[in-house]
Amino acid sequence: MSRYLAAVAFCICAILPFFRGGAPKASPSKRAEAPQNSLKLVLRAQRSSPSDLEISGNLAGQPSGAKYYLSRDDLLRLHQVNFSVSGDPNFSGPTKVKGVELASLARALAVEGEKALIVAVCDDWYRAYYSQQYRQLHQPVLVLELDGQPPEGWPKSKNGLAMGPYLITHPNFVPSSKTLSQEEEAQVPWGVIRLEFHDEQTEFTPISPRSRNAADAAVQSGYTVARQNCLRCHGPESQEHLKGKLTWDGIALFASQAPQNFAAYVRNPKALSKEAQMPGNPNYDDATIAALIAYFRTFVSPAQR
Ligand code: HEC
Repeated sequence: MSRYLAAVAFCICAILPFFRGGAPKASPSKRAEAPQNSLKLVLRAQRSSPSDLEISGNLAGQPSGAKYYLSRDDLLRLHQVNFSVSGDPNFSGPTKVKGVELASLARALAVEGEKALIVAVCDDWYRAYYSQQYRQLHQPVLVLELDGQPPEGWPKSKNGLAMGPYLITHPNFVPSSKTLSQEEEAQVPWGVIRLEFHDEQTEFTPISPRSRNAADAAVQSGYTVARQNCLRCHGPESQEHLKGKLTWDGIALFASQAPQNFAAYVRNPKALSKEAQMPGNPNYDDATIAALIAYFRTFVSPAQR
C-alpha cells in the first residue's frame, strides 16, 4: 500500500466508529492498524545464531512440544517500547531500555493468548514466571537494547558474566502486594535463552498445595512466597533441569524433617555450607519461614512428616 493510501485508510478508520456507532468487523481499520498491532512472526525451525531466542510450549497453530526460534532481527521488527529504568538491581544506574513487551509476545504466540503463563528460562536453568496478572501489574519487557547497545555492549552482571542474549526488566517495578514479611518480588532474569508459553493452571498444578489444609492462610502464604522465590531454581519432579538441583519433594522432606536446619539454610545458606550458591533470605521473619514449612509439608505423606 502506498503511503498516501495508508494515510487515507488510517483516516477512515479513525473516523468510522463515530459514524457507525461501534467497531466495524471487516472495515479498513483492520488493515490500517495491521503494521502496528498484529505481530507477523515467522517461527524458525532451526537456530541460525547463538543470539536466537528459543520459543516453546503451547504455541498457537503449532504441534505441542515443538521448539522454534526467533532471531534478534525478528524481535526488532515487532512493536518496541522505549523507557528509562532506575532501581533494577541488574543495572548500576539509570538505563535506557528498548524491547518487546511480554504481553504482546503472549498475544502473538500463545494458544492461551493474553492468559498464557510465560516462563523465561536462562542458560543455567534459572526460571522467571510471568502470569497475566503480573504482566498487567508490571509490564515486563524482553530487552533488546540497553543504552542503545546490543548485548555485546551491555554491562556485565554482578558476578562478571555476560547478561545477554536477553534479559527482562520493567518500566517501574513497584511491589503490588505483601505476603507476611515479604513484598512481592520483581522477576528480573538475565542470560535468558528461551520463552515458554503455558496454561497457568496446568503449569502450577504440580506445585499446588496438596493436603486437606491446602486452603489454610499459612499454607497459601507459603505457596505465594515459594512461587515468587524458590520456584526460580527449584521445581517439581516433572521439571527436567533445575538450577538448584533439589526438587520440590526434596525441599518438602528437608522442611518437614529438619525444620530448624531448613530455616537456617533458607535465611543464610553460606552459614551452613561455605560453597552454597543459593542466595540467602535474611529478611524472612518467623511467620514467613513457618508458612514455607506449612506449605512444603503438604507434599510429604503423613507417615513421613
Ligand atoms: C537463585 C537460585 C535459588 C533460589 C531462588 C533458591 N534456591 Fe535453594 N538451592 C539453590 C542451589 C544452587 C542449591 C544447592 C546448594 C547450594 O548451592 O546452595 C540449593 C539448595 C537448597 C536446599 C538444600 C540444602 C542442602 O543442604 O541440601 C534447600 C532446602 C533449599 N535450597 C531450599 C530453598 C527454598 C525453600 C527456597 C525459597 C525460599 C530456595 N531454596 C530458593 C538455589 C536456589
